[in-house]
Amino acid sequence: MIGRTIRRALGPYERQASELYRRMFIDLEDMSAVVRAWAKPRRIIEIGCGEGALAERLVRDFPAAHYTGIDIIPHLGRMYSGPGDRVEFRQITAEDMARDHAGAFDLVVINDVLHHVPADLRPGILAASRQLLLPGGRLILKDWVRRPTPIHAAVYIADAVIGGDRGVRYMTADEQRRLIADSFGDAAVLEERFVRPWRQNLAFLIAAPGGAS
Ligand SMILES: C[S@@+](CC[C@H](N)C(=O)[O-])C[C@H]1O[C@@H](n2cnc3c(N)ncnc32)[C@H](O)[C@@H]1O
Repeated sequence: MIGRTIRRALGPYERQASELYRRMFIDLEDMSAVVRAWAKPRRIIEIGCGEGALAERLVRDFPAAHYTGIDIIPHLGRMYSGPGDRVEFRQITAEDMARDHAGAFDLVVINDVLHHVPADLRPGILAASRQLLLPGGRLILKDWVRRPTPIHAAVYIADAVIGGDRGVRYMTADEQRRLIADSFGDAAVLEERFVRPWRQNLAFLIAAPGGAS
């Protein structure tokens, strides 16, 4: 995401600029299409929903589902401009949400969040995801893959300099698979896909234990 100072300077063009900027790195329409191909949820929770860019697509693409977006930032959902019914934004940690709403969702989405989370806190977020899911529910996890390419350097500059997150740390694809296996088990990944426009946008479809896969 673009840092606060730059956002303020953009004034009324903030929304357009933010969409254009994001599109350089991930096609959120394609991300939502991947979610549609993989899941037919009734209750979606997005962990790290940010200002609501993916939320808007998910709410539009799943008109019969209830969407809950959570984040640790204060102004979450600020740029969301979709329907207001069946949508809720809450400033709360995944762990606190899981404590009060265990098994309340059939789909957890985590998109471009984990590289902003310190490595020692990532397992807690995956454990909370698992707790939030009904038996057999699905987690769709998409993150950027660390690989030394020119676009990787651009992504780092975007996150660390323009976005202002100096602590940003990306995982390799194998590190992502290991993190998932540690929380959900070795056979939990049902599918993997790239999300346009870069092959470093890697999405995983992950099954929670307890249901038919
Ligand atoms: C690049 S934004 C992605 C927003 C949204 N998922 C999307 O794709 O439009 C990353 C978000 O992760 C959130 N985040 C970082 N650490 C988090 C944590 N420990 N728990 C929940 N959200 C977190 C940030 O506050 C930020 O809003």
